[in-house]
Amino acid sequence: MAVRRVLVAAAAASVAAVALIAGVAEAAGDRDRPATGDASKPHTSDFGTPVGDNVNTLSVGPRGPQLVQDTRAFEKLARFNRERIPERVVHARGTGAHGFFESYGDLSYLTRAGFLGGAGRKTEVFVRFSTVIHSKGSPETLRDPRGFAVKFKIDEKYGGGIWDLVGNNLDVFFIRDQISFPDMVHSLKPDPVTNIQDPNRYFDFFGGLGGAATNMLTTLYSDLGTPATLRETNGHSVHAYKLVNAERKVTYVKFEWTSMQGIKNFTAAEAMETQGRDFNHATRDQYDSINDGKFPSWELRMQVMPSDRMDKLDFDPLDATKRWPESVAPFKAIGKMTLDRVPDNFFQATESVAMSPGTFLPGAIEPSEDKLLQGRLVSYPDTQRYRLGTNYADLPINRPVSPVRTYTQDGAGNNGAMKGTLNYGLSLTHPVFATVDEARFSESKVCDVVTQAPIPFPADFKQAGELYESYSTRDKDNLVSNLAGDLGQVRSQLVRDTMCSHFYKANEEYGRRVAEAVKCNMRTVQKMAGHLDDGIPDDRRQ
Ligand code: HEM
Ligand SMILES: *[C@@H]1O[C@H](CO)[C@@H](O)[C@H](O)[C@H]1NC(C)=O
Repeated sequence: MAVRRVLVAAAAASVAAVALIAGVAEAAGDRDRPATGDASKPHTSDFGTPVGDNVNTLSVGPRGPQLVQDTRAFEKLARFNRERIPERVVHARGTGAHGFFESYGDLSYLTRAGFLGGAGRKTEVFVRFSTVIHSKGSPETLRDPRGFAVKFKIDEKYGGGIWDLVGNNLDVFFIRDQISFPDMVHSLKPDPVTNIQDPNRYFDFFGGLGGAATNMLTTLYSDLGTPATLRETNGHSVHAYKLVNAERKVTYVKFEWTSMQGIKNFTAAEAMETQGRDFNHATRDQYDSINDGKFPSWELRMQVMPSDRMDKLDFDPLDATKRWPESVAPFKAIGKMTLDRVPDNFFQATESVAMSPGTFLPGAIEPSEDKLLQGRLVSYPDTQRYRLGTNYADLPINRPVSPVRTYTQDGAGNNGAMKGTLNYGLSLTHPVFATVDEARFSESKVCDVVTQAPIPFPADFKQAGELYESYSTRDKDNLVSNLAGDLGQVRSQLVRDTMCSHFYKANEEYGRRVAEAVKCNMRTVQKMAGHLDDGIPDDRRQ
């Protein structure tokens, strides 16, 4: 049907004939491909001028050459020539969905965020799931964290504005300082010479990093690193955030999206089999289930770090390579998100959405001091101005549902809504917009040297060892064979031995099993592990 439509349309002399064919397609029940034409209305140029011929460029005789005078034909090509924007530098492949979030109760004792201030309060959301490393058209079956980014568009009656919770399906991260992010991503991306991803490169980096990624690698190389669908994955904030209440009291929290569908992963064999059949399986599953009325939902759960425990743990609670034990910070459900509509245009929604940890609610939900998160606050809006353009906040998918009232009128970021002589925010003679006292940042006391230094103790191996121990026999088997599949390709004995020493330091059995699978030198591994140190001070050991 599709092919015939194109062929017939190309030959058709009149607009009416094209519309007729489109009508036939619709009558045939082609519900996924809605016709956008209307035979009673003229096709126009980008300036609204009716088009006389959409298949023949103006030319000298029917065989050409063509005339530059046909500016509309060149305008059509010019628009086409600019259809692609740079793909995201990471998380290029994504799937979006619209939905809503409903608060379970009143959280005003912890945060001024009005949308969390009462049971049943509803907030519009847009969610984008993603893979991290490979390009926009890459398979969705590859081992990778899955991005889980939620844009909350807050109603004016709850204070207005936008909060983006930009997390992953895995609960920890590879590194703890933003400055290593470009190095890490370069090592994981395809080789700049061959354009092929190469475990020799990224294990070289993780070995050089010195153990910080051990907890994340022990998570990523479990079957959680190959989710079966997007509906059956959890989401995690990874970082700690600050909630600020009306008394301006600060509470440190972490967030988790718990899938109401349960969790389902692929084994390495299942992932390979699926990829051979359908490398878009996750997006297809998401669209099919929402279009069939099976709306996926997630419960938003929160961990609160008791303030008297912050400086007494055997790890730094603001270190993104660590999870908060439930024994210290139990989960509390605070609301539920339901996805009930797929975007009607991939580019305008999923590709154009600008998720950013820098888009938050001062005085209500603020970033913590986490040194990875602090870097992200600057990185996302910076890349989005480049990727999407100066007006990115004004694109329909990114626009708040609450009013925007600024004094900026000029430049590409303006949609014409702001006008008038008062383009400055302080005036003795004109009324200006009110500032909201409670929306000032929370205050905190800082008294320390300014320094370029690592955190006092990294505790790189303890949680990774505990995670390994918590795995079932099958989980452990799959972790070891998944790791061996990639680490086993590494030619450098030094890199393999170093990686094995990290796993050995986390848990001796774990290290021994990987070492055996990838032909490490066991004596070297043990010697190297002997030099590794969690650095946990004695008074913090638990
Ligand atoms: C310093 C560390 C990091 C840096 C510099 C960084 C940088 C970036 C950049 C530049 C993008 C592309 C944004 C765009 O083009 O719109 C991005 C996307 C993303 N990042 Fe990060 N990232 C970091 C760490 C993290 C962490 C720890 C997480 C998870 C907790 C994360 C989750 C995401 C997600 C989910 C997206 C995709 C957002 C979307 O769907 O549009 N990133 N990151
Ligand atoms: C998913 O992977 C995790 C980690 O290996 C495991 O604990 C869990 O049982 C897996 N779930 C399924 C359904 O495979």
